[in-house]
Amino acid sequence: MSDLKDKIMIAVRDDFAAIEKALAENMNPYFDLVSQVAGHILFAGGKRLRPLLMVLCARLCGYTGHQAARFSIIFEFLHTASLLHDDLVDGAEMRRGRQVANQKWDNSTAVLTGDFLLARGLSIAAATGLREVIETIAQITENMSQGEIRQLEKKGDISLTENDYLEVIRCKTAVLFQGACRTGALVAGENADMVQALTDYGYHLGLAFQMADDLLDYTQDFGSLGKHAGADLREGKLTLPLIHALSRAPGKDKKRMVAIIANPDFTPTEFTDLVEMLKCHGGIAYTEAQAAAHIKKAKQMLDPFDNSVTKGTLADIADYALVRNA
Ligand code: IPE
Ligand code: IPE
Ligand code: MG
Ligand code: MG
Repeated sequence: MSDLKDKIMIAVRDDFAAIEKALAENMNPYFDLVSQVAGHILFAGGKRLRPLLMVLCARLCGYTGHQAARFSIIFEFLHTASLLHDDLVDGAEMRRGRQVANQKWDNSTAVLTGDFLLARGLSIAAATGLREVIETIAQITENMSQGEIRQLEKKGDISLTENDYLEVIRCKTAVLFQGACRTGALVAGENADMVQALTDYGYHLGLAFQMADDLLDYTQDFGSLGKHAGADLREGKLTLPLIHALSRAPGKDKKRMVAIIANPDFTPTEFTDLVEMLKCHGGIAYTEAQAAAHIKKAKQMLDPFDNSVTKGTLADIADYALVRNA
């Protein structure tokens, strides 16, 4: 484990345990099958980043109640629901080191279990009694589904621009991070400016997190990821490293890249060639620089808050998004 990850894990140890406990206690489906399918993905070692962000943001804003962990699992339920649906849409094979639920069971079972987790998240949101929290959660679900549909619609489309990409990752990923941080501030009863600052922290962190994830798909192996590298390309999903490299590559390389993208059965050698071209035409470096710029902005959003251990942990989590390998 990296030093930074160690440091974060020590800082959030008690919160992490409280979140695990709340997840196990608050699922409550009527039927065993729902428990089995949801449990298969839910208890397979996720990082719990989104609920941790909510708990930490609530604490940063002075929340002293006992409901933070329970409310925070809204964001793990929404995240898990989106993963169940996403793996089906993407034709993925592995998630969190396990066979995807839609293969272990079937598509219908995975979709319906995802629906259950979304609904469970909404029920817990209602239990906060805060209209703004309920609105935030409803907007997250709207945005995530639209982001995924937009990405599906643009599958294999090599004319996809950087702006198109940014809009997709805003919807499918950043809105959830943003909503988790915002909700932390809202349950703490924080003032509008501070709520906005943490909303923006989550937004920039979420964009950078997805950019880093898209880089990992070209640079990491299964052992650390718990899902297969090269999957984006196989799915016809154009992400920033590729979009940027395509915009820079001279005709011959561009043609070669387009040919590899067009063939989902590309060989390992072709994949290695493509990664080389991404490096050579600046796609990797550009994406790293964009992600780093968003992390810098995320950390700036913490400036109005007094220095504290919690503020330090939120800054560390932002830095971790750039260096993580899982
Ligand atoms: C994976 O999220 C999906 C993305 C938004 C890139 P995480 O990397 O947070 O996945 P888990 O929860 O740790 O499995
Ligand atoms: C992650 O999207 C899931 C959502 C944000 C809804 P991706 O399809 O890009 O990520 P992985 O690679 O499956 O985790
Ligand atoms: Mg996917
Ligand atoms: Mg996807």
